[in-house]
Amino acid sequence: MATQQLRHELALSRTFDEAARQDFVSALRGFILHDMAADMRAVYERDVKPQAAAAGREPKNGSEVHAAIREHDYFRFYSALRVNAQEMVWDSVRDQVQRQRGQVNDEVRRRAQKARGSVTLQPGFEVPKSVGSLDVHLMPGGYVAEAGQDDATQGAFYDNGAAVFFMGLLGEDQGDIGRSIARFVHRRFPDFRPARILDLGCTIGHNTVPWAQEYPEAEVYAIDVAAPALRYGSARAEALGAPVHFRQMDATKLDYPDESFDVVWSSMFLHEVPLKSIRRLLKEAHRVLKKGGLMLHMELPPNRSLSPYDGFYLDWDSWYNAEPFYKTFRDQDPRALCTEAGFAPDKVEEFVVPSLNFYGEDAVHAAAEHREAVVDGDTGRLASGISWYAFGAWK
Ligand SMILES: C[S@@+](CC[C@H](N)C(=O)[O-])C[C@H]1O[C@@H](n2cnc3c(N)ncnc32)[C@H](O)[C@@H]1O
Repeated sequence: MATQQLRHELALSRTFDEAARQDFVSALRGFILHDMAADMRAVYERDVKPQAAAAGREPKNGSEVHAAIREHDYFRFYSALRVNAQEMVWDSVRDQVQRQRGQVNDEVRRRAQKARGSVTLQPGFEVPKSVGSLDVHLMPGGYVAEAGQDDATQGAFYDNGAAVFFMGLLGEDQGDIGRSIARFVHRRFPDFRPARILDLGCTIGHNTVPWAQEYPEAEVYAIDVAAPALRYGSARAEALGAPVHFRQMDATKLDYPDESFDVVWSSMFLHEVPLKSIRRLLKEAHRVLKKGGLMLHMELPPNRSLSPYDGFYLDWDSWYNAEPFYKTFRDQDPRALCTEAGFAPDKVEEFVVPSLNFYGEDAVHAAAEHREAVVDGDTGRLASGISWYAFGAWK
């Protein structure tokens, strides 16, 4: 597994040393998430579970698995290495991005002049504490750090860091999640022709642009609270030929009229949001959706669909990767979240979509024909074959 070299006009050059370092970090992550993860599961089955059973009973949920395994040497080694590898992801791109900061900002400004899309920021915008005061997934500066006026560097930092983090799994534009799921929706619901699409918590639009490409006749909007991400994302969308309208906005207080979108989409967003805000933003999604519109969130699958061990494995980030809201979200019932937000129980959807990049078009089309979504231990995992989980509802 190697770092995916980005292919768009904002992509930065890499020295040989930077490329070697980044490839090493991707390969190390691949080793941890694939080989070591398989060994750790074996250790759990062979040692930890029988010991827990002998002492009373087997762990019944992810927290109990965590309690049973956390002192085990293998888990401690795995976790220490994984935390270090996570820090190395950001370290491996920091110099590359800082060295080319001026160039990034010039390019972002230049593209803003001729964009077919737009970016609208709000002076004095209040960033929620859950974003502004957290270096989420150990990313120094989080999403919002700015080194000066109109600075977009943190967007480039995220783009290049993600290329290392995802180990080449998401394609040259890192848009595999949006592309796979938009293609799936298009194929399964061929008569559904969205005219207006909204992406919530878009960051730099990795998974917004694919919706614009799948439905080129639609107007596409994307919101986030992080100004540097939006500036960079807008220039990047322009470079990829997608006219997307980016706006600085809090998803819990959408500045759009009732019934103004056909699709309200998000990816990898909800697990970074406190539960109270998730409930609010789902109500907002319901409000701004037109009748017959689709709300859809790509996420990690819920704990209720997984074995205690698989649930524990995915919740690792909540305990060790500065993702404080992750487990609380994964403990929810997606169906209940949708109905509490105002959607009818019989309109709720759950999809498991194979990665287009990994499995190819035929697999996505076959999944679209097949009605039942089967979540298993591999769903949402960045190893050994990827498929994406999404839930939502029709209004
Ligand atoms: C993991 S990133 C999302 C990744 C992105 N959707 C993608 O697919 O590449 C989470 C994003 O949510 C944004 N965010 C967090 N809380 C928000 C809120 N209340 N309203 C809008 N955006 C928010 C953060 O600024 C961050 O950019």
